[in-house]
Amino acid sequence: MSVPVRRFDAVIVGGGGAGLRAALQLSEAGLNTAVLSKVFPTRSHTVAAQGGISASLGNVQEDRWEWHMYDTVKGSDWLGDQDAIEFMCRKAPEAVIELEHFGMPFDRLENGKIYQRPFGGHTQNNGKTPVQRACAAADRTGHAMLHTLYQRNVRANTQFFVEWMALDLIRDSEGDVVGVTALEMETGEIFILHAKAVLFATGGAGRIYAASTNAFINTGDGLGMCVRAGIPLEDMEFWQFHPTGVAGAGVLITEGVRGEGGILLNSNGERFMERYAPNLKDLAPRDFVSRSMELEVLEGRGCGPNKDYVLLKLDHLGPDIIKQRLPGIREIAMKFAGVDPIKDPIPVIPTCHYMMGGIPTNYRGEVVVPKGDEPESRVNGFYAAGECACASVHGANRLGTNSLLDLVVFGKSAGDHMIQFIKNEMPTWKELPVDAADRSLARVARLDGQTGGEEVPEVRAAMQRTVQSRAGVFRNSANLQQGVEEIKQVAERVKRTQIKDKSKVFNTARVEALELDNLIEVAVATLISAEARKESRGAHAHDDYQHRDDDNWMKHTLYYGETRQLTYKPVHTKPLSVDYIPPKERTF
Ligand code: FUM
Repeated sequence: MSVPVRRFDAVIVGGGGAGLRAALQLSEAGLNTAVLSKVFPTRSHTVAAQGGISASLGNVQEDRWEWHMYDTVKGSDWLGDQDAIEFMCRKAPEAVIELEHFGMPFDRLENGKIYQRPFGGHTQNNGKTPVQRACAAADRTGHAMLHTLYQRNVRANTQFFVEWMALDLIRDSEGDVVGVTALEMETGEIFILHAKAVLFATGGAGRIYAASTNAFINTGDGLGMCVRAGIPLEDMEFWQFHPTGVAGAGVLITEGVRGEGGILLNSNGERFMERYAPNLKDLAPRDFVSRSMELEVLEGRGCGPNKDYVLLKLDHLGPDIIKQRLPGIREIAMKFAGVDPIKDPIPVIPTCHYMMGGIPTNYRGEVVVPKGDEPESRVNGFYAAGECACASVHGANRLGTNSLLDLVVFGKSAGDHMIQFIKNEMPTWKELPVDAADRSLARVARLDGQTGGEEVPEVRAAMQRTVQSRAGVFRNSANLQQGVEEIKQVAERVKRTQIKDKSKVFNTARVEALELDNLIEVAVATLISAEARKESRGAHAHDDYQHRDDDNWMKHTLYYGETRQLTYKPVHTKPLSVDYIPPKERTF
């Protein structure tokens, strides 16, 4: 079957913050750049980011990028790569000022400077005093950022392919990336997008969990495509649970609430974080706060009829602050929890929020894999940025607001290095392999031909139940081993999914089945990687190995989907220009 081919200098898969920032760089350099997005770009999941973007602007108190770097390394529980962390924290002020100059509507201080609020794990002088580092547009910072970047891209003539889903990565016989296959949802047609360089900015995969703050579109598409193309996934055992998802609904309540002075209470009305983190209290990093909340519930101090959540109290901030700084939160609380936070506390529980692992990259956005003796050899023509990538700046636990920063810093860096690659190394297109579209055509043909198979929603729910119950905030060996067996069985079921509607035009059943192919790769990678890590570090809290083990486990996991085997590679301990920050105990 002949598949239509379209050619671009650069193809970017994903229209969120990282994809748009990279696209802007490429389009402004005069390169013919396509952005594919399953949804209209301003509906990408970046739009849901609430509390802020970190940068040591020092608009409220003294701050320095070195302190931001220290907090990020400590937050990562020393699994973050210190060269990439230095790169990100140094670039942060410039990245935020650039957004301001692009027209992003940040909140302002009286003196006209960008408003900054405190956030979890952000401290002054490598220490115990919270610092105001999160640059905020009320509680809709991601929304403001995404619209700003989209407008700049329209001005720069980026070409958008809206409601297009990338299906598979195309690699040639040398392993170089030369394009992607994609489904145009409106027609159901499959295309080849031939490119000199491809960037994945496909976002997260939080939908492997039953309860998640993630959008329904966060199905790990980039990761699934990598697994099928023989590219390993890094550090997939590390999933962040945001402390404050609305109990029973999963919707995010920003950490900015605690940044503004909100506090967590147990059923005794006790501000329990004072016991767990005497200095930072409610503003300790997320892994710490989530574990503390779970312990309160496990030890019988949860609230509500089933004693299964805690309360987030913010009425003491007063109606003016709530209406001005947290208007979206008030709306969410009223809609999803049925409470007005001006008067009543919000019921909250830790909820899956962010994937620290992903496609292995360096700080230039290049995808890197082991080859011979080299632990990190570049895959020519292939880049990744944002949540789908593992640079690795977040290590075992991300600090709040470092995600929006990651998008713009590494989106731009990847864009810059793609421009250099295209101009210096790839002035024209490499030939497409003859079987470029075969894998995608076979996947779609199987779905079209399958009768009497498994229903997609049922198999997806089985996957979500397994991941939720076996890879939660607290983990243990028996549960993880059981989880590996269960998820392998679910993966067998995914091979037999069927769709009853075989039509082509806007067939969302087909899209969901194809998304499940990606989700299951992420879920299997998560359980196998988590079962193997015999220590506790960051978001991986293991009851049978309760301490961090730097001698044996200060290393990155690499999961290969074809064999379901793991290898490991060293953490980058050399920053670019400053001294190494050596590991120590994490107390707050
Ligand atoms: O709590 C929040 O506003 C989320 C921010 C983040 O994940 O960085």
